[in-house]
Amino acid sequence: MLAGKRILLIIGGGIAAYKSLELIRLIQKAGGVVTPVLTRAGAEFVTPLSVGALAKAKVHQALFDLTSEAEMGHIELSRSADLVVVAPATADLLAKMAGGRADDLASTLLLATDKRVLVAPAMNVRMWQHPATRRNLAVLQADGVLTVGPDEGEMACGEYGPGRMAEPAAIVAAIGAALGGGPLAGRHVLVTSGPTHEPIDPVRYIANRSSGAQGAAIAAALRDLGAKVTFVTGPAEVAAPGGVAVVRVETAQEMAAAVSAALPADVAVMAAAVADWRVVNASAQKLKKDGSGTPPALEFGVNPDILATISTGAQRPRLVVGFAAETTDVVAHATAKRLRKGCDWIVANDVSPATGIMGGTENAVTLISKDGAEVWPRMSKQAVAQQLAARIAEALV
Ligand code: CTP
Repeated sequence: MLAGKRILLIIGGGIAAYKSLELIRLIQKAGGVVTPVLTRAGAEFVTPLSVGALAKAKVHQALFDLTSEAEMGHIELSRSADLVVVAPATADLLAKMAGGRADDLASTLLLATDKRVLVAPAMNVRMWQHPATRRNLAVLQADGVLTVGPDEGEMACGEYGPGRMAEPAAIVAAIGAALGGGPLAGRHVLVTSGPTHEPIDPVRYIANRSSGAQGAAIAAALRDLGAKVTFVTGPAEVAAPGGVAVVRVETAQEMAAAVSAALPADVAVMAAAVADWRVVNASAQKLKKDGSGTPPALEFGVNPDILATISTGAQRPRLVVGFAAETTDVVAHATAKRLRKGCDWIVANDVSPATGIMGGTENAVTLISKDGAEVWPRMSKQAVAQQLAARIAEALV
């Protein structure tokens, strides 16, 4: 997948640096060539000897390394690669990148390069969620820096949450995609995500508990396999992933219009929790208590079924994947739903409050296709997304 591609790998100072050794091995296995750069902090976690031995190359560490400047200056080093990968990308490295600092070899290379940069962030969950890191990441994404991960899970510091570096295999897939070689390269995938808000009046609305986490993870996983992703999202709690075309909507009707505007697509994954009904007598002004004690009578109308529309439409994508959120008889309901809506697959999940799935970090899904029901073990929403994206790539071959 990476035959002959030259990867400049910057290893930052985080506990995840140990995974970079495996990353070097996987890049090489895929045919790539690694030029390693180890930051001063990175060298506290992995030794230059192990990095150099695995990469079978000189490990670059210091900016003012005269031998190296004679052999290959830092400008040359930053440009001779096909892609610059930062893994782990610490909060400090991201801050330096966002600020355009160049006070050591890694940051100087990152500022001097004319190649694309892919970062695999890894840090404590609080550091990841800190407004400064969010801001830095937004700046970098706007600059066109690609990201992979972080994953959610238990961290070396004992806390739980997003911040764990993406697995080496996922980073290799992202490298492949960044270099235009992913299995979904050249494919357009449409993903819907999040809840919809159906207004009652200018300040009130009807919504549901969808966080948008599963849809965002799916969009990111498809992007990592090289797809061009259009991400149509309702007002979700979870941020939209970088590197995808985001279309923000509020209501089901707006989502339906955005979906049809995004066609044609090779694949549609409809993960949004679309409101089935909207308030047809929504008020243009805020509803006031009239003193009688009688609540206002809301009248409901049926929203367009976006999944059924796309499944039966003239521009039907080759593969249409729907979701089913059920609280009883999951497989039976989802199997019937697949036929009723005319989609190819249904990803069914049990959203009973006891499962903690809706709004949670994990998912337990059953994939329903014409071949029957396939029960997947409970795993993180990211793992579900990666597995689903891999299946989608297989189905398109
Ligand atoms: N969906 C859609 N448009 C709607 C409602 C749902 O596109 N107006 C899609 C969802 O994105 C999801 C699938 O249809 O992929 C299933 O949604 P769900 O709400 O579980 O199904 P319903 O059709 O509402 O069925 P039920 O009433 O049995 O829950």
